[in-house]
Amino acid sequence: MKVLGGISAQAFLNRYWQKSPYLVRQAFAGIPAPIDGDDLAGLATEADVESRLVTANSWQLRHGPFFEDDFAQLPEQDWTLLVQAVDQWIPEVAELFEHFRFLPAWRLDDIMVSYAAPGGGVGPHFDQYDVFLIQMEGKREWRIGQDCTENDDCREDTELSILSEFHEQERWVLEPGDMLYIPPGVAHWGTALTPGLTFSIGFRAPSTAEVLTDFSHYLADKSSEFERYQDADLKERQKPFALMPADIDRVQQMLQEVAGDRTAIAQWFGRYMTEPKYDRPVPEEPLFSQQELIMELERHALHRNLASRLAYVPGTLFINGEALDTTLPEQDLEWLCQQKILSSNLPDSKALLALLTELVNRDAFYFDEP
Ligand code: SIN
Ligand code: CO
Repeated sequence: MKVLGGISAQAFLNRYWQKSPYLVRQAFAGIPAPIDGDDLAGLATEADVESRLVTANSWQLRHGPFFEDDFAQLPEQDWTLLVQAVDQWIPEVAELFEHFRFLPAWRLDDIMVSYAAPGGGVGPHFDQYDVFLIQMEGKREWRIGQDCTENDDCREDTELSILSEFHEQERWVLEPGDMLYIPPGVAHWGTALTPGLTFSIGFRAPSTAEVLTDFSHYLADKSSEFERYQDADLKERQKPFALMPADIDRVQQMLQEVAGDRTAIAQWFGRYMTEPKYDRPVPEEPLFSQQELIMELERHALHRNLASRLAYVPGTLFINGEALDTTLPEQDLEWLCQQKILSSNLPDSKALLALLTELVNRDAFYFDEP
């Protein structure tokens, strides 16, 4: 694969994914930056968009939204503007996900874009997530440091997570079109050599604590008050204050029953991994009936909303944290999730039409004209 420097996706996964940094020269050669620094600055003035300005060396952090004046007052060097989830706002940026289809789509999180003046960067740090850094414009020097653990302290004189110690292992200058993969926990430090744009393709990986918390909420909502600790086989107690092994066994049994329920795990995981990064308004009333959808499709094409998150298991399609029951066969679910544009010559399937109507009413597909 070109984006992987000519090695196969499986070779990349075996050798580098979650294991070791990997530099690909000219992975994105010939692919123009979908936005420029001015577009990014424009986004950072929007109230709904998460943005930050970081000053290098003093490691000062300011949160957006910003005013145009804020940018006019910036010095010639040593600052970076970072905008989170640009894929949510600009479909041409979301298109970059298409280069990473060898990975589960629901592992992708967002695309952060940074514009840095010479000397700008966010300092030596590590992230908890995998990231592909694509240099789209300008030159940026990346230093790779140690594999970090809980013992790697951060500086206390800044609210940014800047490592107190950085042990350089490697150093590369990325030019436009180059890409660098960095696994979770690996220290890295980017510094702009010339003004430029870096696109960070970020991933999702819940911590054990997040899995426990969210899964238990999901189960708790579904469970009945009648499902309860039971001890019909209780034996007379000699030591009434003791928690006996049989008592612990009963609780362990309750926990094992829920942890062993693969259907519940899949139903929860699909919802969890497709939850939007930021809350999105969902229309209260359905916009289209199935009949209206067919009529509208005669006149307009349907476009996939690239910002919506999809995943499926047999019988269920997950869309932005919700689960839709469906009888659509698995290969058709995969086909539907991969479509970017649909027209009236759809496969003839009641299940497909029903599902598509639900998806349009959830803004996962939209007509090219209002
Ligand atoms: C940046 O784009 O400046 C930061 C990206 C990163 O280090 O994760
Ligand atoms: Co980072």
